[in-house]
Amino acid sequence: MATALILLAAGQGSRMNSELPKVLHQIGNAPLFAHGLHAGSVLDPEHTVVVVGHGGDSVAAQALKIDEDIIIVRQAEQLGTAHAVLQAREALRDFDGDAFVLYGDTPFISPETLEKMQAARAKHDVVVLGFEAVDPGRYGRLVMDGDTLTRIVEFKDASEAERAITLCNSGVLCADTKTLFDLLSSVGNENAAGEYYLPDVVEIAGSKGLTATSVACDEAETLGVNTRTELAHAEAVFQNAKRAEMLENGVTLVAPETVFFSLDTYIGRDAIIDPNVIFGPNVTIESGARIKSFSHLEGCHVSTGADAGPFARLRPGAELGNDAHVGNFVEIKNAQIGEGTKVGHLSYIGDADIGDGTNIGAGTITCNYDGVFKHRTTVGRDAFIGSNTMLVAPVNVGIEAMTASGSVITKDVPNGALAIARAKQDNKPMLAVKLFQKLRALKAKKAEKGQ
Ligand code: UD1
Ligand code: CA
Repeated sequence: MATALILLAAGQGSRMNSELPKVLHQIGNAPLFAHGLHAGSVLDPEHTVVVVGHGGDSVAAQALKIDEDIIIVRQAEQLGTAHAVLQAREALRDFDGDAFVLYGDTPFISPETLEKMQAARAKHDVVVLGFEAVDPGRYGRLVMDGDTLTRIVEFKDASEAERAITLCNSGVLCADTKTLFDLLSSVGNENAAGEYYLPDVVEIAGSKGLTATSVACDEAETLGVNTRTELAHAEAVFQNAKRAEMLENGVTLVAPETVFFSLDTYIGRDAIIDPNVIFGPNVTIESGARIKSFSHLEGCHVSTGADAGPFARLRPGAELGNDAHVGNFVEIKNAQIGEGTKVGHLSYIGDADIGDGTNIGAGTITCNYDGVFKHRTTVGRDAFIGSNTMLVAPVNVGIEAMTASGSVITKDVPNGALAIARAKQDNKPMLAVKLFQKLRALKAKKAEKGQ
């Protein structure tokens, strides 16, 4: 069955006390709304529609960054969840299949739960995701008759008996797309809030001879984010879940509670992550690699057998080949480090291509920026860059070439050549001893004068 996702992200979220629309606050370095889309990807949706309102332009821009095929629709006035879903009608006019409604501020719905809902659709026209609430508070209540969901009643509109129900509405719902929009066109706003309620489609479905049911998930999956405190809590929940997932997938985390991931972090089996490592967005680590303590990675790729850290910084575009070694206090940006190549200590390698089997000495810097433009450096395979070499880009060092320590390399170095680009050493016999004597005499004289 083909599916479409409709993600509601028009609300302001005033309790965040922020200029930023709520759904753009991040957990795991991804905006809140991206988490729902991430889970929804298990349904392999043909279309994804994001309904925006407050801060619509910035939400739209972020959504299109995630996937340029996302369809953005605007809800000019927030008249309720049913009204929000209706904004997607035109975009899905020709679509034949099921629509899943997700909320932008409910990041923890699991892919498995969405699959359960999909399975339940075999027997029912409308499937609503519910949960047993420890404290049902102001959630909408699911009124069940056997496994038939007869209606959903908002807390504000509920009778005492209905308020006693603990099975609550998560908001997530699925139905055949055409059916859903048909039902939505009958939803009115004569209720306590004066809003068009999406949950009303359940009772309307019943009156048209269609059936509805509910699928239950763990309350933790329906955790919403309304305040900064809840955002911080959600981050912790996300990190714990991601750590558990990594361990499950065969990644060694020496001290899991000290490692921080992004939504899209990918780490292969048998990789080892030492304590205190931060994974920013867009990092992939192949199996068998090792990231040592206090390293910070973003937008980079580390191949099998390679290692980085302690104290390595891998920035966007850093690619470590198989068995490459990046040691302490090394920053790599937009650079390929060849197979088995070593950048052991205190270096900056930016905008560079370093061949296989090369050794980059301590303190080497690619001087890639002239204040206006960025330039590239290339170093061939099996080369040896002496410690404290400045590679002033654009510059090429050839295959099996060498640079002498302390060189400032401004011209290309041919294959196999040794480049020495530093002042010649000049030894003055006994001059050090004489200089010491002179200085010590001066110090003694000053002490006599009480200076
Ligand atoms: C809704 C449900 C309630 C459920 C609860 C779960 C309705 C009427 N009630 O209540 O049964 O228990 O969620 O959290 O649906 N939104 C729009 N446009 C609008 C209104 C809302 O895009 O016009 C978006 C919000 O940004 C949010 C989501 O829809 O992401 C839910 O809206 P919200 O106002 O938080 O609904 P609740 O009152 O919490
Ligand atoms: Ca809510």
